[in-house]
Amino acid sequence: MPAIYSAPDGSKEAAVLEKLRRVIDPDFGEDIVNCGFVKALNVDESAGNVLFAIELTTPACPVKAEFERQAKAFVGELEWVKNVRVTMTAQPARNDAPETVEGLRRVRHIIAVSSCKGGVGKSTTSVNLAYTLAMMGAKVGILDADVYGPSLPTMISPESPVLEMDKGTGTITPVEYEGVKVVSFGFAGQGSAIMRGPMVSGLINQLLTTTDWGELDYLILDMPPGTGDIQLTLCQVVPITAAVVVTTPQKLAFIDVEKGVRMFAKLAVPCVSVVENLSYFEVDGVKHKPFGEGSGAAICEQYGVPNLLQMPIVPELSACGDTGRPLVLRDPACKTSSRYQDVAATVVREVAKLNNGKKPRVDIDPGYDGAFRVELPGENDDKPFWITAKNVRMSDTSARVKGSDESPDRLLNGTPIPDDIAPIEMSVIGNYAMSVTWPDGLSQVAAFNTLAKLERLPARAS
Ligand SMILES: Nc1ncnc2c1ncn2[C@@H]1O[C@H](COP(=O)(O)OP(=O)(O)OP(=O)(O)O)[C@@H](O)[C@H]1O
Ligand SMILES: [Mg+2]
Repeated sequence: MPAIYSAPDGSKEAAVLEKLRRVIDPDFGEDIVNCGFVKALNVDESAGNVLFAIELTTPACPVKAEFERQAKAFVGELEWVKNVRVTMTAQPARNDAPETVEGLRRVRHIIAVSSCKGGVGKSTTSVNLAYTLAMMGAKVGILDADVYGPSLPTMISPESPVLEMDKGTGTITPVEYEGVKVVSFGFAGQGSAIMRGPMVSGLINQLLTTTDWGELDYLILDMPPGTGDIQLTLCQVVPITAAVVVTTPQKLAFIDVEKGVRMFAKLAVPCVSVVENLSYFEVDGVKHKPFGEGSGAAICEQYGVPNLLQMPIVPELSACGDTGRPLVLRDPACKTSSRYQDVAATVVREVAKLNNGKKPRVDIDPGYDGAFRVELPGENDDKPFWITAKNVRMSDTSARVKGSDESPDRLLNGTPIPDDIAPIEMSVIGNYAMSVTWPDGLSQVAAFNTLAKLERLPARAS
């Protein structure tokens, strides 16, 4: 969290801050002063002028206008105040890209749009999400990481559809369409230097490490389907902030999507939303579900991934996909565009929470027989609670989901789970789950909503 602004008691500045404490950020459940958003407060008491900035975590903040309105109204209540000037700003872009990925240095957040299955609507989701974020005021880029079947060239129509490569520095400049920067193999051009890499992951690496994205708030990664080498390369080279998982409603899709969620869990990349695409179509107000239902909800329930959003079957989406102009640009006021606004607002909110919200913590407590000490914001009055490692392990249902007859109280080799089982590795994934590797090789994604339901040991002074 950024530093909290303070002022001497009894001063006019303190009175202004007191008023600003009534503006609450709905995501963090905190006021904007405590969130550290208030900056550069300047009071001219004799003239009745108050100047300050509200620095948000992202320029695409969905509550930006509301914050500004409330801040002005509350400060305006002070009797000596005649003018309130608020500047709305956003924190400077930065991420922890490795030194070698210079071109990503000023990219604030990288969002992977992914699914294990082909053709479920990743590219459609990526492109419409990207342009919606841009319309919300963010600087956005899209990387189409599909080497075999790049989709971007049919979905957008830039004036100059060829990536430029600086011969001296080897830097690639993205193509631009309607203010969004785009890189795709489809724009690499025949015989260009970019295409001469020996292997696909080499190509991906080259695009990732030599593209100069400049300053971006969000880089959307349109991932190719699967959980193979390309996906791993992407996740390892690029510091992905969060993933949006795209699925379809069929029960069979669950198995594929599950693989994806587990891959991200292993890499400690949090999934912030599940978009269930092709969910239904509506005729005369009646919803028809030709592909069945349940896959999206099952993922959210089992893995604790928040925010299930359903996207209906919309013929215009498919039509726009071929015309070179995404639907959200063509018809920003239509129902489908407003659903993409929901997806975008969810991404913005969850990413802001990941960076600035209270973080969950899970540790092994050596002084308590190796029990898990768990601290989850919003759970148990924010106080820690303790659960046994064995119960955590037994809460894993993945073996049963896969249809095997393995019992949850057995290790993978069939012997009973010992009472003193201890993980060999664990890490927190976003704010919804943790990834645990056990000595028998099982890697578990333990959703916090599952952990919260396990039997608790008596609390102890920490
Ligand atoms: N909600 C929708 N309604 C109607 N058509 C859709 C919808 N979503 C996607 N489509 C269409 O389905 C096809 C596949 O979508 P898309 O290319 O986005 O999938 P993908 O997951 O990126 O595929 P691939 O695995 O090949 O990369 C496209 O023709 C697209 O226009
Ligand atoms: Mg695609």
